[in-house]
Amino acid sequence: MAKPAFSLDGRSLITPQSVSEHLNPQTDAQLADVVQTAAAEFAIIINVAMQRLSSTQNRADAVKWLIAQLHDVRLKYGPAAWQKLAPIIRAHSSAEILQQCPFTKWSFEKPRGYSGDATLIDFIYQHPAIAEEVAKTTPLGRDIFGYTINAPGPVAVRERRDILTEFVDDTAARVGPDTEVLAIAAGHLREAESSAALRENRLKRWLALDQDPLSIGSIVTQFRGTRVEPIDGSVRGLLARKHQVGSFDLIYAAGLYDYLSDKVAIRLTQVCMEMLKPGGTFLFANFSDEMADDGYMESYMNWELLQRSEADMWRITNSCATADTVETAVWYGGNRNIIYSTLRKRA
Ligand SMILES: C[S@@+](CC[C@H](N)C(=O)[O-])C[C@H]1O[C@@H](n2cnc3c(N)ncnc32)[C@H](O)[C@@H]1O
Repeated sequence: MAKPAFSLDGRSLITPQSVSEHLNPQTDAQLADVVQTAAAEFAIIINVAMQRLSSTQNRADAVKWLIAQLHDVRLKYGPAAWQKLAPIIRAHSSAEILQQCPFTKWSFEKPRGYSGDATLIDFIYQHPAIAEEVAKTTPLGRDIFGYTINAPGPVAVRERRDILTEFVDDTAARVGPDTEVLAIAAGHLREAESSAALRENRLKRWLALDQDPLSIGSIVTQFRGTRVEPIDGSVRGLLARKHQVGSFDLIYAAGLYDYLSDKVAIRLTQVCMEMLKPGGTFLFANFSDEMADDGYMESYMNWELLQRSEADMWRITNSCATADTVETAVWYGGNRNIIYSTLRKRA
């Protein structure tokens, strides 16, 4: 058996060289050592978490603690070791327990065949559409769910939905009845449910583009007779200019850039800037590199996201600002788990 490079207290054997090998193992043997140490630390953590979950008291606290521990382990052992550790965690018997949480289970099973489908986000929104799925869960699953959807990531996603509604309503107030909005990767367009501008018919159109026919079907049913216009389309279609959709006062994408490489993100942003009317705004959101739930999401939920730092967001934003761009901004949501960029076109 390979000897662990570190003692478990994370201090005694650390030398500058071992720290760098630890975060950036150069050889397979070094990586195997680091993974073994990380797996040993995980074993201790999960033992404690399972003990705490076996009691009916304070299960939410136990899940909160586990999520924080997994975040720390992910950070401490570095990306290469984490890539190897995440499948070990998913294969651990604790996965069956944690996947009793309907949100965790949905993400892990991926009924739509991809991560981050609109129904998964409905769990976060605590939307009535997922009530039946939640009702099927065990009491333990419900207790775990009680914390997973109130972890910092989901809190930030609910705020993101509200920010989108606010942007649409503010745009309608500024532009008037000719307001045209485009939501890219619209999901179920839940932000439209509380839009005063939509309710009061103060928009010309709110185009909602998504690649999943089930998302589009849900929008068709829910928003029939309103100014919402669903469109079955994709980022690829937008980039190829396949969708002749016109121009907009507001274009936004939430829950999409987290899956796009810089190259595609930049190209999409450029295309969106071209589709803006004078004075229009483009907004994109991304999970930030400060997000706290990443270890749990990437292991038990098998939900991998491309987190971005403030510098990453500026790199995309600055690559897309042209002489026609009058204002750019990069800003964090309330708990810094989601970061936003806005670009405004000259009026
Ligand atoms: C995480 S959900 C976000 C939904 C919504 N924007 C929200 O914030 O609640 C991601 C959505 O992006 C859609 N999507 C993913 N890749 C896409 C692509 N390449 N083109 C269009 N839609 C895409 C999925 O179908 C899914 O509905």
